[in-house]
Amino acid sequence: MDLKGKVALVTGGASGHGREYCKELFKQGCKIAVCDINVEAGDDLLQQLSKNVKDRVIFIPCDVTDYMQFEEAFQTTISRLGGVDIVINNASVMNDRLWELEVDVNLNGVIRGLLLAFRFMGKDRGGPGGIVVNAGSSCCRNPLVSLPVYTATKHAVAALTRCYGDLYHVNLTGIKVISICPTPTETEMGGDPRKRILSGEYEQAWLSDTSNSAPVKPERLGKILTELIQNAKSGSSWLVCNDHPPKELP
Ligand SMILES: NC(=O)c1ccc[n+]([C@@H]2O[C@H](COP(=O)([O-])OP(=O)(O)OC[C@H]3O[C@@H](n4cnc5c(N)ncnc54)[C@H](O)[C@@H]3O)[C@@H](O)[C@H]2O)c1
Repeated sequence: MDLKGKVALVTGGASGHGREYCKELFKQGCKIAVCDINVEAGDDLLQQLSKNVKDRVIFIPCDVTDYMQFEEAFQTTISRLGGVDIVINNASVMNDRLWELEVDVNLNGVIRGLLLAFRFMGKDRGGPGGIVVNAGSSCCRNPLVSLPVYTATKHAVAALTRCYGDLYHVNLTGIKVISICPTPTETEMGGDPRKRILSGEYEQAWLSDTSNSAPVKPERLGKILTELIQNAKSGSSWLVCNDHPPKELP
């Protein structure tokens, strides 16, 4: 896929990995719809990216747990940027204390994003086709024992990627589906773990989960995302760490 001129809708695009994805896709010539609940960070990124180039980036306040808001984000992107070709389902919560919200954002949010992509981009619905990239995690390979619900959401995302990325669906919709699975960054693993884990008794598990993790550099992620968009086969999930090229997860 030639990225120049393509339109990318990025959920959770205002900060963290999503921000890196927006910056790299923008650099590659894409138009970007940054969708996030964090209005301050979203406006900040909009200012940063549209300093020299107008009309290639928009910020849309959007909560992926709300189907109607998410649907409106697609409609706004199409009317203001001319279409949607790439969806990055990246918004997430990593906090098992808020496990219902965690499932609603990390899993249901990805399902909503997929279904909306099929509706607005599917060739079977008169759309152009395209690609959906789901944010998975290295915990698909090394489960975070201290965060069972978070880990389960990411395993479910890998399963969705595999099923919707199957040629059966791709032949119907013209939409490739892949997943990017980074090892933890410092930000995600930092802070007081007791605010993330469901019980104080899981602290030892947290220490063991995080003892060998080599944080991935956020700036590496953008480059890898664009490589995967262009080269990865549909249905595949890719482990991303610092020192090796991305590796397909079995
Ligand atoms: N950071 C890591 O170490 C790491 C490792 C592996 C996988 N991941 C995955 O990568 C993705 C990005 O992680 P991150 O570290 O950048 O997270 P982050 O917490 O830094 O950013 C998440 C973004 O999602 C937004 N968001 C949260 N709830 C939302 C909602 N309901 N609707 C719309 N936006 C919402 C937040 O405002 C934020 O901008 C996630 O899917 C995460 O699970 C992260």
